Amino acid sequence: MINSKLCEILDIKYPIIQGAMAWISTAELAAAVSNAGGLGIIAGGNAPAEIIKKEIDKIRELTDKPYAINVMLLSPYVDEIIDLVISEKVPVITTGAGNPGKYMKDLKGAGTKVIPVVPSVALAKRVEKSGADAVIVEGTEAGGHIGELTTMVLVPQVVDAVNIPVIAAGGIGDGRGMMAAFCLGAEGVQVGTRFVCSKECKVHEKYKERILKAKDRDTIVTGRSTGHPVRVIKNKLSKEFEMLEKSGASIEEIEKLGAGKLKLAAVDGDIENGSIMSGQIAGLIKDIKSCSEIIEEMMNQMTNIYQSMNFICK
Ligand SMILES: Cc1cc2nc3c(=O)[nH]c(=O)nc-3n(C[C@H](O)[C@H](O)[C@H](O)COP(=O)(O)O)c2cc1C
Repeated sequence: MINSKLCEILDIKYPIIQGAMAWISTAELAAAVSNAGGLGIIAGGNAPAEIIKKEIDKIRELTDKPYAINVMLLSPYVDEIIDLVISEKVPVITTGAGNPGKYMKDLKGAGTKVIPVVPSVALAKRVEKSGADAVIVEGTEAGGHIGELTTMVLVPQVVDAVNIPVIAAGGIGDGRGMMAAFCLGAEGVQVGTRFVCSKECKVHEKYKERILKAKDRDTIVTGRSTGHPVRVIKNKLSKEFEMLEKSGASIEEIEKLGAGKLKLAAVDGDIENGSIMSGQIAGLIKDIKSCSEIIEEMMNQMTNIYQSMNFICK
């Protein structure tokens, strides 16, 4: 139904990618998304290679469909993770925090597709030059670490600037958002927050409940003063961040406050003192569904909109 070049490149049925989420997108979630026809991604975060190797073994037991590993280029283990990806012939990697150019030749040699996440036109052009197969353009609406520009303005500018497929991320939680991204020229979408509220996601139940309760203005950006802004749901921790940043505290002090806090919320369920990373789209998410229901619903909604637009434009 959707003739997306991206689906051909990645050998997937639907152009829907589940965004990497540290401590949250494990092999179970990624396999559920891949089995449903999208592309599931295991988050690498700052984990060493032996942990990621176990996740690769697990996802291979759970699915025979393509999957990806997200490689955080600032991880202290980045070189060993890239070696692992190459030796295990991982089908796809997405990368965060920079340009994976220096690894490109070896990754391509192993048959791994490389899709960097970018927050700007300049980086999109640079990674295309380095040989990226596609690019994920992430707007500031997204959950987790973010850039400045919105999905609405950034996606069409990157679409005009590069010749590789563009995947839109940030603020997409249903078929309406997906359709909008396609109208901007994207050939696929990356979805994070919506998949947190899926049956197969192993995040703590309290984390899911907090997203379900969220209203439109419930997220806030912390850490702007450090140069590493993060979108989270407001809670006791985000207030502490606000106060510390206003007090003129040093970058080290502010970063120290954030250390280990995503795990505290996502794994231990402490949603007051932990960091509830989430996108602005949380306000739209009202139920927990299986990954396959989420994907099918997005695709059906998009088809219905397309048909009604055809009718309007006649
Ligand atoms: C809880 C959480 C953790 C995230 N962790 C990562 C990460 O480890 N690496 C990464 O590249 N992106 C990370 N992201 C961003 C997602 O991969 C994705 O691009 C984003 O969630 C899309 O926006 P949305 O939340 O509006 O769907 C994270 C997002 C969330 C909500």
